[in-house]
Order: sequence, then C-alpha cells, then structure tokens
Amino acid sequence: MAHKTWGGRFKKELDPRVMQFNASLAFDKVLYAHDIVGSQAHAKMLARQGLISEPEADLICKGLEEISHEIENGVHEFEASCEDIHMFVEQLLIAKIGEVGKKLHTGRSRNDQVALDLRLYSRNAGVQINSLLQNLNQTLEELARLHADDKIPGYTHLQQAQPIYLGQFFAAYLAMFQRDLERLHDWQTRMNRSPLGAGALAGSALPLDRMWVAETLGFNGVIENTLDAVSDRDFIIEFCAAASIIMMHLSRLAEDLILWATQEFGFITLDDSFATGSSLMPNKKNPDVLELIRGKSGRVFGHLMGILTVMKGLPLAYNKDMQEDKECLFDTVNTLAVCLEIITPFLESVQFNTKLMEQKAKSGYLNATAILESLVLQGVPFRDAHHQVGLWVQAAIDKNCSLEEIINNKSL
Ligand code: ARG
Repeated sequence: MAHKTWGGRFKKELDPRVMQFNASLAFDKVLYAHDIVGSQAHAKMLARQGLISEPEADLICKGLEEISHEIENGVHEFEASCEDIHMFVEQLLIAKIGEVGKKLHTGRSRNDQVALDLRLYSRNAGVQINSLLQNLNQTLEELARLHADDKIPGYTHLQQAQPIYLGQFFAAYLAMFQRDLERLHDWQTRMNRSPLGAGALAGSALPLDRMWVAETLGFNGVIENTLDAVSDRDFIIEFCAAASIIMMHLSRLAEDLILWATQEFGFITLDDSFATGSSLMPNKKNPDVLELIRGKSGRVFGHLMGILTVMKGLPLAYNKDMQEDKECLFDTVNTLAVCLEIITPFLESVQFNTKLMEQKAKSGYLNATAILESLVLQGVPFRDAHHQVGLWVQAAIDKNCSLEEIINNKSL
C-alpha cells in the first residue's frame, strides 16, 4: 500500500526485499509527534494561502490530532509495509478522513518534511539535554561550595603535584559543562530555521508562505536556499560534536572517580545503591555506572564519525544516504540523556573521604613548590631555589621523612 503514493509511473510492484531494505519506519517512528505538528502548520498555511479551504484544513488538523493520540496510546502497529513515518501518518490520515487527506502533501516533499521533523526533534532534544546539564551543574556547584576548604592532592601525569581543594576539582568540571551549555546555545540559534517550503529541492510554484510556517513552529526564520534547506545536516553533526564533547567531559569525571574508588586511593566510598557486585568474588564492589558512562562515550564519538562519513562527498541535494542520519542522532540523544540522568544522583550519593584526602595532601612533598616560592620571595633566584628544594626532596626521600624535617634540621 505504501508505494501507491508514488506508484503512478511504475509498472511492477516493489520487490519485498527492497521494500524492507528501503524502509526507515522501524526507527523514524520516533518522529511522529514532530511530523504531525509540522503537517498541521503546513495545512493551516495552505488554507491561509487559499490552496485548500478552511474546513479542509480543520478536518486535516483534527484528524492528525487524533492520529497523534492514537499512536501515543499504541493503537497503531508500525506496519512493516510502510516506507517511513511520513507516509505512515499520511496514510492513516487518508484512511481516517478520506479524500481531503490527499491534499495535505500539497507543495511539500518528504525531503523538506524530514528536514523539518529532524530539526524539531533536535530542538526538543537540545532543551532536554540543556535541562539535564543544568541539574548536573547545580549539583557540582553545591559540591564545590561544600568542599571549598577540603584539601586534596592535585595531580599532573597522575603523579602527586600540589595540594588543591576538592571544591576546585568540582568547579573545574562545572566550568567544562558550562562551556557545553554555551555550545548548545550557539548550536540552537544556528539550527533553529525552517526548511519547509523547499519542496524536493527547488521550492514550489505554489504561493506558499514559508515564513508563516516558520514562525508558527517557533523558528527564527527560514533556510533561504532550497537546495541547502533539504540537504543540510550540519545541525546533526554539530549536535553530535557537542554531545561528544559532553561525553568526553563525563568520561574524564568518571575516570577520576573510578580511580578514587580504588582501594589504593580510597578517596571516595561508593554508595551501595549506586555500586554493583561480582557474581563470583564476594568482596567486590564495582563502579559500573562510571565505567558505563566512560564506555558509552565511545559510542557517541562513533556516531559523530558515522554521520560525518554519511555526509562526506554527497552531491546536492537530497540523497537517500541521508536516511542514515537518524539512528546516529537518536542514539546520541538517548545515550547522552541516560548518562546525564544517572551521573547527577550518583554524585549526590558518593561519600567523600575528606580526612584521608587531606592526609595525602599533606604528605608526599606536595608542598615543595610552595617552599620554592617562599625562597623566591626571599630573593633566591628561581633556578637556584628549584635546585635547592630538589636536593631537600631527595634527602627527605632518602631519610624517609618530611621536607620540613630536612629543612628544620638544616637550619639548626
Ligand atoms: N525516509 C526518508 C529519509 O529519512 C524521507 C525522505 C525520503 N525522500 C525521498 N526522496 N525518498 O531520508
């Protein structure tokens, strides 16, 4: 039934294997609500422009509203015989309201339709990720405040370097996620333009009002060039890039905490409700949540490379290759969302062993740089002071004592 929409010039039925290979309904069904909202705005515009009558537009909009609820309530099976969500919804509409349903696609192609749906989906996803990031940042801010005065060892090369504050550690991650929010904001202003009215690639000879549809759907304007409107997927690539950077940040946080949870570090204790055990070793308590976040970052980076490679070398304008943009995008959004949803309560559940952290920050010659700088303030040239403190550190290591003990003995 699906290919009846374009079947006029075909003499043979589509081979069922091609039908199945070609279909995207199994994954683009998540676009249904956006497809319907877009179609309703399109139908209203058609009526405003006199291309269909007002009662026809009302009938279409009402029919689509009902279909939306029906899909939401699982009334419709997503038929394997339907090529994609756009045809699926249109066919349901025609089945529901009859002939008038056939007017909905006036002045429209699935090419501008799918570009519109994806932008609506992405915009929504951006709002969701934004709010999850804000939640995480609130928790990080709280932890930064709570631990503003708790000393911990700071590391470079994962070797003890200088003492820092636990609060500063959280504030560093807060700074990263704030940049991520800025990135999403930049992306949103660039992507929030409507492609509808671009048709298959060359617009339409019908008197469409592209601007009205754009404004009705909350866009900042239209994508002027119709070739660009149907073939641009930069907004997906940029989203996947921003998501990859967020996942990279999350994976670094996860790694710091995984290390801190080891018996060797002991800086944090995982809450029983956020840790997992071993089926074999009764002693184990594992940071699975953190490891999964670290692992899922690889998957999100992969999607970025996937969509870039799909788009590479595509001639203008729409090509069916672009149907492969969806799973990259959807899985990126879902993966990022679950990671952000779990990391915030995870952080809130962790017990920070600040006594041990402070003890470690005070031992191990982390004060060497501070001593060096005090010598510099007393007028010792930096290089000489560096060398002198280095000798003291070596002596302290040899005698297995603190730097202070070496220095005090020297001055005696
Ligand atoms: N399912 C298609 C996609 O996701 C919709 C656009 C189809 N356009 C076409 N000319 N075959 O890309």
